[in-house]
Amino acid sequence: VKVIAIATISVDGRITPPDAEGTPFSSPETGSNFVSVISTVGAVVSGRRTYDVVKDEMEQFITQSDGSVLNLVMTREPSGHEDQSQPDGLEFTREGPSELIGSLKQRGIQSIAIAGGGEIYAAFAAEQLIDEWIIAVEPLILGGGKPLLGSAAQQQLALEESRHLNDNTVLLRYRVEGPSK
Ligand SMILES: NC(=O)c1ccc[n+]([C@@H]2O[C@H](COP(=O)([O-])OP(=O)(O)OC[C@H]3O[C@@H](n4cnc5c(N)ncnc54)[C@H](OP(=O)(O)O)[C@@H]3O)[C@@H](O)[C@H]2O)c1
Repeated sequence: VKVIAIATISVDGRITPPDAEGTPFSSPETGSNFVSVISTVGAVVSGRRTYDVVKDEMEQFITQSDGSVLNLVMTREPSGHEDQSQPDGLEFTREGPSELIGSLKQRGIQSIAIAGGGEIYAAFAAEQLIDEWIIAVEPLILGGGKPLLGSAAQQQLALEESRHLNDNTVLLRYRVEGPSK
């Protein structure tokens, strides 16, 4: 299973503003790129706190994507979300990263996007399960907010692609070579 982590960061590496949830600084072009990346994978994995922020957009996307992409939300309390789940559309799981990848493989899924947040990126990165990072860098410095990784993880990366998404936003795509040297 190919695992692609996709994130939007400020120049100082934050995924949220200080003292706020969400990514209000994400540009429309970054949003369009996110949609095109997730339409190439079999499943999108998010943390429960990210789900709380994006649930309306996620439900809209599920309706529009006619069930072709499975959205998985990681939570240690999936039973609290039974009323929100839609089989093969939106599922809540307490499986950790490697167990989750194993289950998706058994379901015939060949690629997944890890959509954050910081705790989820860190959990997959710490187990060296990420093959590729796609990072949009937005033109601002926030001086605070959640960092890309919510806990320690080290990786050595190789730059595969860099391009402008608009005049001010750069998209970076890295292959993960292994633990950082
Ligand atoms: N800029 C970006 O690209 C970007 C991308 C994504 C998110 N965000 C933002 O980042 C913020 C959320 O990030 P976050 O780090 O606070 O939270 P998060 O990673 O979205 O979610 C954390 C939650 O995931 C669940 N979880 C974590 N590890 C797990 C494991 N091993 N097994 C099962 N469940 C597990 C837990 O849910 P329970 O508490 O339910 O057990 C935990 O509270 C939001 O503001 C969101 O908008 C930004």
